[in-house]
Amino acid sequence: MSLLDIKSVSKTYGLGEGALTVLSGADLILNKGERVAIVGQSGSGKSTLLHIAGLLDKPTVGEVHLNNVSVDDFSDRKRSAVRNSTFGFIYQTHHLMPDFTALENVIMPARIAGMSQKDAVTRAHELLAKVGLSHRLSHRPSELSGGEGQRVAIARALMNKPEILLADEPTGSLDPDNADSVFDLFESLVKDEGMALLMVTHNPDLAKRCDRVLHLDHGHLTQS
Ligand SMILES: Nc1ncnc2c1ncn2[C@@H]1O[C@H](COP(=O)(O)OP(=O)(O)OP(=O)(O)O)[C@@H](O)[C@H]1O
Ligand SMILES: [Mg+2]
Repeated sequence: MSLLDIKSVSKTYGLGEGALTVLSGADLILNKGERVAIVGQSGSGKSTLLHIAGLLDKPTVGEVHLNNVSVDDFSDRKRSAVRNSTFGFIYQTHHLMPDFTALENVIMPARIAGMSQKDAVTRAHELLAKVGLSHRLSHRPSELSGGEGQRVAIARALMNKPEILLADEPTGSLDPDNADSVFDLFESLVKDEGMALLMVTHNPDLAKRCDRVLHLDHGHLTQS
């Protein structure tokens, strides 16, 4: 069953002569538990597509359906609530909050979603153990290595048991060895928790490990 259905989505930035159309009639279906990679040149609109998929941005034309319900007419408040409960986000760099410890960063999405502090701490401990960071709970992001920071970001993205994980070059800032081991971990967690994954990557080896690879070119998505 389709979890996420992006229907003929176009996105134009700006107006008039300076307008830039990045997506034009892009279609994408993501099924439950499926792992899909998106590849394409720099500037082709991959991050734009991920932002639209994750309800962080709206298409200029087209529709986004989640579990067969159109989200296009949702209020901003409802979009935020659905975003927080349905999606986990992992960016190229970790985007952790600098003044908070690893444990506090992981707990944050669950507290926003209304989980009790006790339950949130328990789940955050479990997830940080899964990513091998039980010994770094009280470190702030500046006190973590790049790979450690990315592993904290993975734990944070999984905190609310999202149905869909959106990852924008999740290992892009890591050296090849670290990228491989972070992706191994990432892949096994996605499988364990039965999540669907939509991942932008420039790394052909990582793309091949997904169920499908889609190319974004001139605003369209095509399967290779
Ligand atoms: N808010 C914005 N206003 C105007 N133009 C934008 C905006 N955001 C992105 N763009 C432009 O849209 C195009 C697509 O951007 P996007 O970030 O989606 O590309 P990308 O495929 O993720 O690239 P990269 O691989 O370099 O991350 C780029 O040419 C960018 O300059
Ligand atoms: Mg990008």
